[in-house]
Amino acid sequence: MGSPQQLAPPLLTWFYKNRRLLPFRQEPTPYHIWVSEIMLQQTRMTAAVPYYQRFIAALPDIPALAACGEETLHKLWQGLGYYHRAANLHKAAQILCREYGGNLPADYNALRALPGIGDYTAGAVASMGFGIPVAAVDGNVLRVFARLYNSGEDITLPATKRAFTAFVMAHQPPDAPGDYNQALMELGALICLPNAAPLCAQCPLAAQCAGYATGDAARLLQLPVKPPKKQRPVLPVAVLRVESPAGILLQKRPAKGLLAGLWQPPAWEDATLPEAEARRWLAGQGLAVVAMAPLPAGKHIFTHKVWALGGWRCQVAPAPAPEGFVWASPAALAGQYAVPSAFRFCL
Ligand code: ADE
Repeated sequence: MGSPQQLAPPLLTWFYKNRRLLPFRQEPTPYHIWVSEIMLQQTRMTAAVPYYQRFIAALPDIPALAACGEETLHKLWQGLGYYHRAANLHKAAQILCREYGGNLPADYNALRALPGIGDYTAGAVASMGFGIPVAAVDGNVLRVFARLYNSGEDITLPATKRAFTAFVMAHQPPDAPGDYNQALMELGALICLPNAAPLCAQCPLAAQCAGYATGDAARLLQLPVKPPKKQRPVLPVAVLRVESPAGILLQKRPAKGLLAGLWQPPAWEDATLPEAEARRWLAGQGLAVVAMAPLPAGKHIFTHKVWALGGWRCQVAPAPAPEGFVWASPAALAGQYAVPSAFRFCL
């Protein structure tokens, strides 16, 4: 027991025997790794896999991604959240077509310079896609190393991340940098669990783990150390679900800012909408109300804020869509318009 000596051999043996069969592991091209890693930064594996499969089926290579229209891309990403990541994939694909013949470069710094690619993604694509000996340190890896070294350092500090990256590299086998990096993530996902007791009895690194050696299960659960999360402000958002025989009324959000370019029902951020005001707005749009009832409350958590959604469900008589709006039929809502999850509570 004590601090780690020979991590890679037992880790890789464990990985080759226990790794999950994942679609991006079946054909680990740099493009497949890139797309999967961007998706996995915001989503659990089980939720990400069907998105990944649909995305790759629709956009099988970088030129296809570069040529994809914004609406198609939004629809493929609908429900994953963090839509700027999809926009960055698109922008980067266009750069790759212009400057690299439609391929990802086999160079860490060139990858790191692309839109939406940070240290982690550059490291994952470089090591797993090209066999380049660099680190790929995500939350899983930070947790594994904090426990292996029984380190109480705050993992959100750049200095801690640098120190852990040096530990990762000190143990990386030069002939299998990608498998090693991925094995660390897999260990974090399957054994060295984040929100439950880690499965130390099954861990290939238990004998070398300084955290395990303390014999203090509560201590392991407290690692890694992070500062407490800031409270997110809760903002009201008023929404009208307006239905006519032609469908549901939608408008496109502005091209910049939160949820840019996505579709939504008429909505007012940082506002509430009393019934009388809602009726006035509808009348102003030339819409005659047939029936009206309150919507159930909705809630959506963003990184920096929470939306508390509410409003009205309104049936209106047939009428042309007001300027700046469309009537979305059920088929168009399913297949064409990308509506972010925040508004799904009323659709
Ligand atoms: N989490 C993010 N990327 C991963 C990967 N490639 N394998 C396992 N877990 C991951």
